[in-house]
Amino acid sequence: MMLKHACFIFFLSPLFWFGQACAAELPKSTKVAIASAHPLATQAGMEIVGKGGNVFDAAVAVSAALAVVEPSGSGLGGGGYWLLHRANDGFETMIDGREKAPLSASIDMFLDKQGRVISRLSLDGALAAAIPGMPAGLVHLSEKYGCLPLKVSLAPAIRYAQTGFAVGDKYLKLLQSRTGILKSYPASAGIFLSNGKVPPLFSILRQPDLANTLKQLADSGREGFYDGAIADKLVKSVKRARGLWTKQDLKEYQVIERAPIKGEYHGIKITSSAPSSSGGLVLVEALNILSAFDLQKTDTVTRKHLITEALRRAYHDRALYLGDADFIDIPIERLLSQDYAAGLRSTIRPDKALPSSFLAGEMSDPSEGNHTTHFSIIDDQGNRVAATLSINAPFGSGFVASGTGVLLNNEMDDFVSQAGTMNGYGLIGGAANAIAPGKRMLSSMTPTFLENDEVVAVLGTPGGSRIISMVLLAVLDFAENGSPESWVSVPRFHHQFIPDVIEYEKYTLSPAEISGLASIGHQLKETRNRYGDMQAVLWHKKTRSLKGASDRRGSGSALVKNF
Ligand code: GLY
Repeated sequence: MMLKHACFIFFLSPLFWFGQACAAELPKSTKVAIASAHPLATQAGMEIVGKGGNVFDAAVAVSAALAVVEPSGSGLGGGGYWLLHRANDGFETMIDGREKAPLSASIDMFLDKQGRVISRLSLDGALAAAIPGMPAGLVHLSEKYGCLPLKVSLAPAIRYAQTGFAVGDKYLKLLQSRTGILKSYPASAGIFLSNGKVPPLFSILRQPDLANTLKQLADSGREGFYDGAIADKLVKSVKRARGLWTKQDLKEYQVIERAPIKGEYHGIKITSSAPSSSGGLVLVEALNILSAFDLQKTDTVTRKHLITEALRRAYHDRALYLGDADFIDIPIERLLSQDYAAGLRSTIRPDKALPSSFLAGEMSDPSEGNHTTHFSIIDDQGNRVAATLSINAPFGSGFVASGTGVLLNNEMDDFVSQAGTMNGYGLIGGAANAIAPGKRMLSSMTPTFLENDEVVAVLGTPGGSRIISMVLLAVLDFAENGSPESWVSVPRFHHQFIPDVIEYEKYTLSPAEISGLASIGHQLKETRNRYGDMQAVLWHKKTRSLKGASDRRGSGSALVKNF
């Protein structure tokens, strides 16, 4: 009996699971804050900390849970970025789990014989899907930084997939927008639709095939997805639907750890995503341009004008210079330099908008974008994770690989199919982000840490090309002493160089601001919907108290819990 009891304790201990001490060698978290886009994902993270996991194990659990309960935004068929900070040695890194173009991808794969872009080919179906990085990211995060085995940290996600959960209003609205493409693939329709239609509110979504794929990952690590039976099914199904995946593509996929982009704005240390995401560079460049203005003292029209002009110039550099750093040389030092920012700042007139056509390019309307997902985690010692994860458009490519439950991304659309033409977000680009075999497509995902003498904040949001401007507005609010609740609620406006228009949420601009901005040459357009779903947590260094907030535009939750 004694022996059985001792065995039971050993079985429960992380030493049994991992065979060695916790990889991150962190003291146990006693208090944790988690904010994510779905209450079940936030709960999954808390459950795993309750089992002895650290914040990195919690991040595995939240990522996997979101893949199940928010399949419109991210999933095993997608990728993303996990920004990590380890408190005991200050180590920071970004896990780049961005998808990669298949090895047989080519620069003109979405063009017709006349060299014109074939409508929707990079958005719908198997050809739009790049090789996923999410499963490899989960394994890497767990094995290198976690304390618990995947069997434990993936358990909540497996449970949600097996037993199901009630779908909400936001999910159904996004599903409605993608019903057409989901209906054309039986494996997709069988999971998400009911007789080809959007199911009723609060109906239960069960995903047994996805539960099995997650189990394979839990049991066999990366081989459970990138090799063996699941890989066979993925490749067979993609090939049958005229996609390009091969077994070699899956076997060769690797995540990469990269040094995060760092900057400073009015005494706030900024840590954010590095290429293959443009997020950190564009954010810091725009903040550098703004840093010499006293935004708090300027009138509200000038303030919005200056922010717009900074965004215009930083997004212009995005289009010119940014892409996968493993394939192209990015002038990172220059883009982050204060001298370079000062030069750009000197071209801003306080009383006049600069037309984007004076910089380069053409104009068009971007599509509305509210997909991808973000979560933020911090404990009372300052260990933290900011993760933004995506399958690109809502429900990605709409294509589920038969027998896997895995909904594939359509991130191939984040490449430039043809220089100067726009992708689904109205973003343009050139050679730096052209398609090449094995290359990562440029992203806008901007998981971010902010730190001053007193506090640390962790934040980020979904929202396509608007992600960077949303994070920038939150940083400015942080600089003006806002709370997590206020960062996630900031009324939003956006400019991305092309199209040359300030997009704004209803009620963000007063009639006087609209006419003031128009009078100095800005074009303005109200967005159809409010956008973004920011998730933020905060740690006070001295008191060790924690707070969190989840954007009311979404249906997520923020929790703080003692352990
Ligand atoms: N797929 C959206 C992004 O990576 O920015």
